[in-house]
Amino acid sequence: MPKTLIKNGTVVTATETRRADILIDGERIETIAPSISMDAETIDASGMLVMPGGIDVHTHLDMPFGGTTSSDDFETGTKAAAFGGTTTLIDFAIQPKGTRMRDALDTWWRKAEGRASIDYGLHMIVTDLGEAGLEDMDEMVREGVASFKLFMAYPGVLMVDDATIFQALSRTAKNGALICLHAENGGIIDVIVKRAVAEGKTAPIYHALTRPATAEAEAVHRAVAMSEISGAPVYIVHLSSEDALNEVRAARDRGVPIFAETCPQYLLLSVDDLARPGFEGAKYVFTPPLREKHHPPKLWDGLRHDHLQVVSTDHCPFCFEDQKVLGKDDFTKIPNGGPGVENRLQLLHHFGVNQGKLSLNRFVELVSTTPARLFGLYPRKGELAPGSDADIVIWDPESEHEISAKTHHMRVDYSMFEGFKVKGNARTVFSRGEKIVDHNVFLGRTGRGAFLKRAARGGAWK
Ligand code: URP
Ligand code: ZN
Ligand code: ZN
Repeated sequence: MPKTLIKNGTVVTATETRRADILIDGERIETIAPSISMDAETIDASGMLVMPGGIDVHTHLDMPFGGTTSSDDFETGTKAAAFGGTTTLIDFAIQPKGTRMRDALDTWWRKAEGRASIDYGLHMIVTDLGEAGLEDMDEMVREGVASFKLFMAYPGVLMVDDATIFQALSRTAKNGALICLHAENGGIIDVIVKRAVAEGKTAPIYHALTRPATAEAEAVHRAVAMSEISGAPVYIVHLSSEDALNEVRAARDRGVPIFAETCPQYLLLSVDDLARPGFEGAKYVFTPPLREKHHPPKLWDGLRHDHLQVVSTDHCPFCFEDQKVLGKDDFTKIPNGGPGVENRLQLLHHFGVNQGKLSLNRFVELVSTTPARLFGLYPRKGELAPGSDADIVIWDPESEHEISAKTHHMRVDYSMFEGFKVKGNARTVFSRGEKIVDHNVFLGRTGRGAFLKRAARGGAWK
């Protein structure tokens, strides 16, 4: 591969903003300097920001769930991610109850193999520790699957009990992996849901009304206690409410190694979207649910003050016309999940940076650098430095567009952010030195994305 020179851009990392040129040699960054002159393919980035590629640590591609399968697979999902400036994602393999994690890992490798156009890692969803589960966890870490998700919700499907969570945490205290928790009290929610259905309350809005924020806060509180007792760090996924945030903040203030992510939908939408007329609300059925309007400003504050460390998407798309409709007469049958992998950077840049809630450096930290650090990819990913992978986004901070299902690249027939006008978008995207998107044209190759073996205990708690 010839060398590539990105000239005249403003380089933005989590820690600095400076005028500099970047020289790429093959898959890696070779040099970053105020001015580089050399015979190379040269790209003018005047007026542009040059940032490390986005890392989305929470996606569900080709995932069987709720009686159907998420509509983006590794081909369409990674391509859509690339259009939005995301060059790495970490998806979830699921261990079906009673089976070995090794089999789940093989299944998800097969789903991704030959399809991904950006690099990807996998977390393992643990549903059952059984006889060999703890040894299996060590084996997964050796395979580069250095994080596990466990569910405190979805009884009978994915939920595990506290003993299982505590055992898994105790294991990661030794093997250095990170436990991610879906923190909602599934038992309580199940009772409230059953009551609602018995009373004939079947519209999408009841998805939110049966999952109180207190049930999220209680689960986070329990997760904190288990982290303290086991001595292992915990990462709370898709945190949605002020109540849960308060638990995370209080724990971090005491020095407990708790980390948490939120997602654009919790920052920008509200329970009112679930109450849209007819069945429209089904587009916004995901878990935890959207909250009342006083929560998002608190989440923005949490991002600003590092009570929350990451913004991911929880991209889990289901088409409205033929998948969400499964729950037309009963909200409990609406497949839970929403699309967003393409829009994360655009939304956070526009509503965070442009509206003065986040600095550019904090933006990069939230969407790229901290995800890399926490999930064992740093400094290969999430950084612009000599030796790092040349996963680079040339970001046009002035480019304006309106988000719409008519123009997005995700394989789903609606957008949760339809009609949102945003300023700032990826102009040119490099993945390991290869230009994969330029001016809204995909130049990458299906199957070029590689599985990333992630390091355990590479995280910020070390
Ligand atoms: O509703 C959601 N969030 N679907 C994806 C599965 C999960 O809990 O992350
Ligand atoms: Zn979850
Ligand atoms: Zn998820």
